[in-house]
Amino acid sequence: MNQQIKEFIERNKQAELAGGQDKIDKQKKAGKLTARERINVLLDKGTFVELDKFVIHQSHNLGMDKNFIDGDGIVSGYGKIDGRFVYVYAYDFTVFGGSLSRTNANKIVKVQRLALKMGAPIIAINDSGGARIQEGVGSLAGYGDIFYQNTISSGVIPQISVIMGPCAGGACYSPALTDFIFMVKEKSHMFVTGPDVVKSVTNEEVDKEELGGAYTHSSKSGVSHFLGETEEDTLMMVRELLSFLPSNNMEDVPFCATSDSPLREDENLNTLIPEDPSKPYDMKELIDSIVDDRIFFEVMANFAQNIIIGFARMDGKSVGIVANQPAVQAGVLDIDASDKAARFIRFCDCFNIPVITLEDVPGFLPGCTQEHNGIIRHGAKIVYAYVEATVPKVTLITRKAYGGAYIVMSSKHTGADVNFAYPSAEIAVMGASGAVNILYRNKTDEEKAQVLKEYEKKFSNPYRAAELGYLDEIILPSQTRAKMIQALDMTQTKIRSNPAKKHGNLPL
Ligand code: HXC
Repeated sequence: MNQQIKEFIERNKQAELAGGQDKIDKQKKAGKLTARERINVLLDKGTFVELDKFVIHQSHNLGMDKNFIDGDGIVSGYGKIDGRFVYVYAYDFTVFGGSLSRTNANKIVKVQRLALKMGAPIIAINDSGGARIQEGVGSLAGYGDIFYQNTISSGVIPQISVIMGPCAGGACYSPALTDFIFMVKEKSHMFVTGPDVVKSVTNEEVDKEELGGAYTHSSKSGVSHFLGETEEDTLMMVRELLSFLPSNNMEDVPFCATSDSPLREDENLNTLIPEDPSKPYDMKELIDSIVDDRIFFEVMANFAQNIIIGFARMDGKSVGIVANQPAVQAGVLDIDASDKAARFIRFCDCFNIPVITLEDVPGFLPGCTQEHNGIIRHGAKIVYAYVEATVPKVTLITRKAYGGAYIVMSSKHTGADVNFAYPSAEIAVMGASGAVNILYRNKTDEEKAQVLKEYEKKFSNPYRAAELGYLDEIILPSQTRAKMIQALDMTQTKIRSNPAKKHGNLPL
């Protein structure tokens, strides 16, 4: 074999060994895959094309002038998922703890720019000790460049972050700027300051799992959107998420053929809503029943469970679903539910994904905690997101649609294209007993019972709204799937854009 080819093969082998066998063994001992293994699990077999494999750092401080490793701790390039191009970069913890240098930041920015130019999703796999300490401000500048690209690409291509190890300090802000964050049980940690700093500043004793583990961020902070059991599971979830998304904001949603009939009826839905309006039911049963093949890909399943968000397909085409969950806190809207729903609606709107809203909401959650933490400005995000969204919007009121919550949950008045209600819908300023207690507080129980009946007859139904044209149709629950698909079909050609502006001022 030609000497130059031999040298090339040897150098390639060295580059793929990255930090060396010892470090790879340590990574394995920690139950983690290497950066290249992760990319290979994520992408269609044999499609990965690596870029910048021989890039090395330019640092000469603290002994770094004697320590160069090809690739410098980032594996980056492109490949395919389900036959569609994606761009990817993975921090390699075996090389200087996956720390970010000026040079490997340049590698990241290169694939970020390529992804934006070619109009394809980008996936970042994080496993890093943060800024490379030996480099100082050069590394910090690298983070700034990555954040800049994250922000510029927002709404143009889907950006996904997968946290598979430590992600600390300012490094958390790149994932936070992307559309979706995946974490792995017991393997990923995200925090702005670690347990030691927390202890010294606030005197709180907390371990890294409690402070910033996958469960914490999936259920308490709402930072993470998906929680995987293992690295492999998590990477498969990334593939599934992408199956619902177009590659960029100019593409239509992908089509996935189904044998599930668009006319399929489900008699069970006729008895899903309890006659007693104070009784809960599981909105997920309705979702599962109406979507193609009962496949619902839920987003943020463990956070603010009083609202449900996620992707599904209707007659082969992706939709986003936003649904109140009467089985959790009666489906009330609070700060976390508002944030969760608003960001999801805005994502769907960026990427041409129609939004279905399933509504059963008694109102906004009362109380000092909510008021003092800003339910007004957080709740305003839902209105803003629905009004601003120009994608097709179809709403179904299954039961309660009270007060401000009726208006904000994609009502006709805030721009929905098609509004349905079940015969069990109650569209009113508030529930019957609350209304009677305010209007007739000085009356006897008997008198109150009398007006309660009158109120229920007049207001606890969908007919007044239908008479005013605020509902387009009252439908039989069993026919929900067919009605939804008809409406989505009709709205496919919707043309609407908002007035030209630099950007709006979303309440934050
Ligand atoms: C250079 C680093 C490094 C870093 C780890 N290493 N972090 N090298 N810069 N930031 C090196 C270690 O020296 C070690 O090298 C190897 O990576 C593996 O690290 P270990 O400590 O042995 O691994 P582990 O016990 O698993 O602990 C991982 C860790 C810990 C929790 C990430 O290494 C750690 O706390 N690192 C520092 C984290 C940090 O404070 N980063 C700065 C955050 S501030 P050898 O050769 O011994 O194997 C920041 C600002 C960003 O990032 C601002 C953006 C705007």
